[in-house]
Order: sequence, then structure tokens, then C-alpha cells
Amino acid sequence: MNKIKVNLDKRSSHSYEIYIGYDILDRIALLIAKSALAANYIIIADTTVSSLYGETVLSALRETGLTVDMIDFPPGEASKTIDTALSLIEQLVDRGVDRSSCLIALGGGVTGDMVGFIASIYMRSIPYIQMPTTLLAQVDSSIGGKTGIDIFKGKNLVGTFCQPKAVYIDLKFLDTLPDVEFTNGLAEIVKYGIIDDPDLLATIESEISNIRKRNIDNLGVIVAQSCKIKKSIVEIDERDMGVRRILNFGHTIGHAIESASGYTISHGNAVSIGMMASARISEKMKYLSMEDREHMENLIQKVGLLNYIPSSIQTDDIMSRMKHDKKKEGHTVHFVLLKKIGVPFINGSVADNIIEDTIGELRQ
Ligand code: NAD
Ligand code: GLY
Repeated sequence: MNKIKVNLDKRSSHSYEIYIGYDILDRIALLIAKSALAANYIIIADTTVSSLYGETVLSALRETGLTVDMIDFPPGEASKTIDTALSLIEQLVDRGVDRSSCLIALGGGVTGDMVGFIASIYMRSIPYIQMPTTLLAQVDSSIGGKTGIDIFKGKNLVGTFCQPKAVYIDLKFLDTLPDVEFTNGLAEIVKYGIIDDPDLLATIESEISNIRKRNIDNLGVIVAQSCKIKKSIVEIDERDMGVRRILNFGHTIGHAIESASGYTISHGNAVSIGMMASARISEKMKYLSMEDREHMENLIQKVGLLNYIPSSIQTDDIMSRMKHDKKKEGHTVHFVLLKKIGVPFINGSVADNIIEDTIGELRQ
């Protein structure tokens, strides 16, 4: 089992460990029992994950003598709302959950974000643990303490920073993950390679067919490396005031394309087009070499991510959604651009005509 520490500040209680391995549920249960965080635990999962893994996780934890219960909610982004959060909170009250309790987020990023949010506000905050079951959650959303829910006016507009007490990553959960969800996680791993680690990109490039077959050794390497990159960025900028923004590489145009498609384009595919757009903008603005840009585009194609904008999505629509993105400041839309692979920077002055030309070039 691989162990990575997230060092957040000098108060060790605020820092936490990420544990990674394959088929390690029994060891995770023992670690949770040994950590003696709480008098009792409540697993929160969506119904897909609770029917696949609920009983297994409950019995593994109970076998160590822990008092554990479980509640669930319907799967999908549509559930990441204040209504679901309140309904779960009421169920916590009914079950007598109090400040001696700990929540366990068993699931993907929707579950992790919402459980973290509930933990941060329930009885003025109780501890929680992340047990991520999607590739995206294992390499991204379970680490770093961003919690939240969506409101009608936008995704993640209500939330808190609240770090988990630990992150337990069992790669075996990925055995049942649908391909489209696996690809979403893969796009984020490619992102880490581009913004921080050319060696990770080289590993993805040479091992892509094994990775797609979900070979455990390959997954272990790329998940651990992704966690190390994310945690090192979070350690510097826990509250997203500066360097953490580079994690949004590919997301400025990506989010706009995702929503303009009515969410028919998956998050991972939208981010991959967004990463290509950012590379092209970087090249047009004379920051990035053509060789680096072509290298990235070839890799995205090799990984099987979407590399063009479907003709059904209008340029005007992408532009206007981008300008209303919650990540803009005043009228400034920030782009994460590249000087070379592994050297990103934030730029708030990309001219509209450069963005529009880039969108045009990336059409089918
Ligand atoms: P998700 O949680 O909706 O999971 C995707 C689907 O996979 C769901 O239908 C779920 O039921 C199913 N699933 C989960 N694990 C499974 C398994 N092992 N086998 C079979 N099916 C399984 O979505 P996601 O992609 O994991 O996360 C997306 C969310 O994460 C978004 O809401 C996004 O805003 C958030 N996010 C947060 C952060 C952060 O830093 N907090 C970072 C990135 C994304
Ligand atoms: N996924 C973006 C962040 O954690 O900051």
C-alpha cells in the first residue's frame, strides 16, 4: 500500500494521509479502526455505489468492531443540491449522528463534494473521510478539501474548504467503473502531466493500452503520481488564491463546451478540447513551441479523448458561457496557458479574436 502525506500546516491535525492500493478494503477498515476518529461512522453513497459496494464496505468496517451505518441518495450531478444535502442532514439527525460521529464519502466526486460540504456545516462541523470510487475522485476531487453543491445559477457555487481526515483509495473500485467515467479521470491525469510532469505524460503515452485495460500496476503508478502532484499544489495554496488555479488547465473553455453541449459531451472530453485550445492559444501568443503543442495534441488523440469541437456547438455560445464562468474575476477571464509542457501560468488578457480563431480551428 502506497502512503502519501498532505502537509497543510504546522498543526498536524489538519494534515492527512492518502492511502493507495488494490483490494485493500480490509486494511482500510483496520486503519480507520486504529485511527479512532469517532465513536461511530456513517457511510454516505449514491445508490449505484451503495448497491455495488455498500454491504462489502459496511461488513469490512463492522468486522473491526466499528459502529457503522449507511445512507444513500440518487446518483448523478443532478443530486448535488441543497435539497439532497438537507435530506441527508435530516437523516443524520434521525440516526442520532453528533459531533462524536464521522462521515465516510463512498463514491465519486458528487458524493465526495456533498459529503464534505455536509461534514463542514453539520453541528458546526464533524470529521469526514474520503473513500473515492471513480478515477476522477481518486486523482482529483477527494484531495484538497474543496466541498460544495450546485445551485440553479451554476455548479459548485455554494461550498466550503474542509479537509478530510484521510483519503483511502482502493483501485479495485475501478473494476466496475463505466468507460466514460474512466475517461473523465484519464483526462485529469493527462492534465497533471501537461501542467507538471513530462515523465507522467511519457508513462501515459507508452502504457496507454495497459492503462485502458485497467492494468493494476499502471493504474497504481499514475494514480499515485497524480495524487502527489495535486497534494503538492494544495500544500502551497490550500485556499485557491494563486498557484492552485493551474489545476483549471483546460477547464475555462472546457466548462463552456460541456455546458453548451447540454452535458452530452463528458467532462473529460470537454477538458481535453479545452487543453488543446489552451495549447493553441499559448502557441499563437508565442509562449509555446509548435512541437510541444503537437506533442500534446498527439497524446490526447492517442489516449482516445475528444480532439475537436462538434459543429452543433456555436462559437458565440462558447464565448458567452466562458464569460459567465464563476472563475472569472470582474470582466477578466483567466486562462491557464503554457510556456512549455510542465510550465503553466495564468493569463487574464487573451484577446477574444484569438479565442474565436482557436475555436474555429478545433472544429470537426
Ligand atoms: P460522480 O460522483 O457522479 O460519479 C460518476 C458516476 O459513476 C455516478 O453515476 C456513480 O454512481 C458512478 N460510480 C461511482 N463509482 C463507481 C464504481 N466504482 N463503479 C461503477 N459506477 C460508479 O462523478 P465524478 O466524475 O466522480 O465527479 C464529478 C464531480 O466531482 C463534479 O460534481 C465535480 O464538480 C466534482 N469535482 C470536485 C473537485 C474537487 O476538488 N472537490 C474536483 C474535480 C471535480
Ligand atoms: N480540481 C480543482 C481544485 O481542486 O482546485
